[in-house]
Amino acid sequence: MKKIIKNGTIVTAADTYQADILIENEKISTIGSNFSEDGAEVVDAKGCYVFPGGIDPHTHLEMPFGGTVSRDDFETGTIAAAFGGTTTVIDFCLTNKGEPLKNAIQTWHDKSKDKAVIDYSFHLMIGETNEDVLAELPSVIEDEGITSFKVFMAYKNVFQADDETLFRTLVTAKELGGLVMVHAENGDVIEYLVKKALDEGKTDPIYHALTRPPEAEGEATGRAAQLTGLADSQLYVVHVSCEEAVQRIAEARNKGYDVWGETCPQYLVLDQSYLEKPNFEGAKYVWSPPLREKENQEVLWNALKNGQLQTLGSDQCSFDFNGQKDLGRGDFSKIPNGGPIIEDRVSILFSEGVKKGRITLNQFVDITSTRIAKLFGLYPNKGTISVGADADIVIFDPTVERTISADTHHMAVDYNAFEGMNVTGETVTVLSRGEFVIRDKQFVGSPGKGKYIKRNKYGSYQEEKSKQMN
Ligand code: URP
Ligand code: ZN
Ligand code: ZN
Repeated sequence: MKKIIKNGTIVTAADTYQADILIENEKISTIGSNFSEDGAEVVDAKGCYVFPGGIDPHTHLEMPFGGTVSRDDFETGTIAAAFGGTTTVIDFCLTNKGEPLKNAIQTWHDKSKDKAVIDYSFHLMIGETNEDVLAELPSVIEDEGITSFKVFMAYKNVFQADDETLFRTLVTAKELGGLVMVHAENGDVIEYLVKKALDEGKTDPIYHALTRPPEAEGEATGRAAQLTGLADSQLYVVHVSCEEAVQRIAEARNKGYDVWGETCPQYLVLDQSYLEKPNFEGAKYVWSPPLREKENQEVLWNALKNGQLQTLGSDQCSFDFNGQKDLGRGDFSKIPNGGPIIEDRVSILFSEGVKKGRITLNQFVDITSTRIAKLFGLYPNKGTISVGADADIVIFDPTVERTISADTHHMAVDYNAFEGMNVTGETVTVLSRGEFVIRDKQFVGSPGKGKYIKRNKYGSYQEEKSKQMN
């Protein structure tokens, strides 16, 4: 059945205007006014913003990590994402050394099949670049539509890859049309600092932060950026947390290197002091990179505002406090790294960013959706409100005042990292390819309706644009 969203204010990365939207066959078919309502389902968006669905470029759903498995899976995680105004997630598919990439991809298809309530796609971890891996990559791009590769520069003896692997991945990605993503921390230095701290009897959660200093992130970010310049390739730095890393990205971009940076809500509003909470509660705030000294928050906000950083990911990787985070009691290095953020990513950027005048409304849409769609080969099907685009639409009430809490969130975990935080604005209704997933704040979707999305190559949108202009 066709649908009409009327009386709302449409906001894209470029424009803010009043118009109605006609949805037919999963797509936005017309944007205008005075549509015939015969046979249509009409949604009144009066007083609300109408945004393109948020795209979360960084999730770890049901991921084995730190001796356990992240709690939210493709069902609970995507339901929570939808409640928060996100209509597409790109999850990290882990690979195992010595095993074909296609096996890892199949594992991720198996765990997501019939579960997601919104559309989803995968990035692929590259842990080695032997002949077998290099031979498989063209089919990963062409057949699977996986056009982004993740290299970990940290987590020694677990995921960490060496510089040769990073460099070969950069060179190959350039040839094939992929975007290389890095977790940029110096894993070797961190390994040394962690061992030293534990030898000295320093076992509390705060030592997680103190053994992963900002210099270790800045160094790895700078190294990855330099290698990108050398390979004449393209790089996306995930979860940037501190000034040192922002500076390295800005320097690279000033040189003309194709380097992009993502930050996450936790780094914008929480700080290192959270790791000192008593009764082991600091474990709830263990991420890698760690939360930083408060002054970094303003640096990150400014970087989003001035374009040195371009996107916001959730880095959703949730673990219960009871039963999972507490694996690290008595040894901070055993606390599973990560937290539940997928639901609050969009709201926090709206409330803390737009409402507090740190970024504009159009920047907010760019940072949470449009730029991500462009970088990861989803644009213009996703990431904007335009004729022909998928009808992934969020109706958002910018006036609601509410308090974030685990009592009301939809993630599967027993705490919320932003517990008690007051925010302005709330997602009211969400459509995924024209079907309601959230309607008047109620979940009305179904697991399995979310579709696996094969993505275009890196730069394909820009190439398409320049062809049209010539
Ligand atoms: O602490 C984090 N960030 N956990 C998720 C895995 C990763 O490094 O992104
Ligand atoms: Zn990471
Ligand atoms: Zn991550």
